[in-house]
Amino acid sequence: MIGNDIVDLALARKESNWQRKGFLDKIFTKEEQLLIFKSSNSEDMVWNLWSRKEAAYKIYNRQTQIRVYNPIQLVCSNTHLSIGKVIYNKHTYFVKTEISDDYIHTIAVTKSEDFNKIIVIDNGIKVEKHNGIPSVYDEKSQNLKPISISHHGRFEMKVMI
Ligand SMILES: CC(C)(COP(=O)(O)OP(=O)(O)OC[C@H]1O[C@@H](n2cnc3c(N)ncnc32)[C@H](O)[C@@H]1OP(=O)(O)O)[C@@H](O)C(=O)NCCC(=O)NCCS
Repeated sequence: MIGNDIVDLALARKESNWQRKGFLDKIFTKEEQLLIFKSSNSEDMVWNLWSRKEAAYKIYNRQTQIRVYNPIQLVCSNTHLSIGKVIYNKHTYFVKTEISDDYIHTIAVTKSEDFNKIIVIDNGIKVEKHNGIPSVYDEKSQNLKPISISHHGRFEMKVMI
């Protein structure tokens, strides 16, 4: 399974004041907040961890159909490694995060070997949604294949395995 999340850093800067009172405590564990405070770029670390949680949550949602979003309980670890983890309610998700000057993009998967199989989907492909959750029709297997979509500001990314 796959989930992704993209953050347009210019838009995040404009729309979200991560330094406002209570914001960090609501979203991030104490350990994650330490990572943010110790980072040479705290703002990027906020959106980095945020995108990891969102990408993992999209898989959790698809797996369980449970729609309670409780970001503080999605716990990020191994953030210094190329493949990190997000753990939520005994589910483990593997995450890879790309950081550029303009955006931060995370892909989450349930099996780390799936990172070798990620396909970025063109805008032209027809997307079907069930309960808001997107899939594409795969001619070869004649089945729906799960995809993940994320858009924010100037960026949109659609991915599948
Ligand atoms: C879907 C959700 C998980 C993320 O949405 P988002 O980050 O605002 O927006 P994104 O662009 O990244 O993702 C939206 C896409 O996810 C897909 N999506 C919608 N519901 C989904 C679900 N339950 N599971 C997986 N994917 C879903 C859709 O394809 C949607 O795009 P579309 O409407 O064009 O088809 C949203 O339901 C949500 O609850 N967000 C929580 C926001 C929040 O407070 N975050 C705290 C950050 S740590």
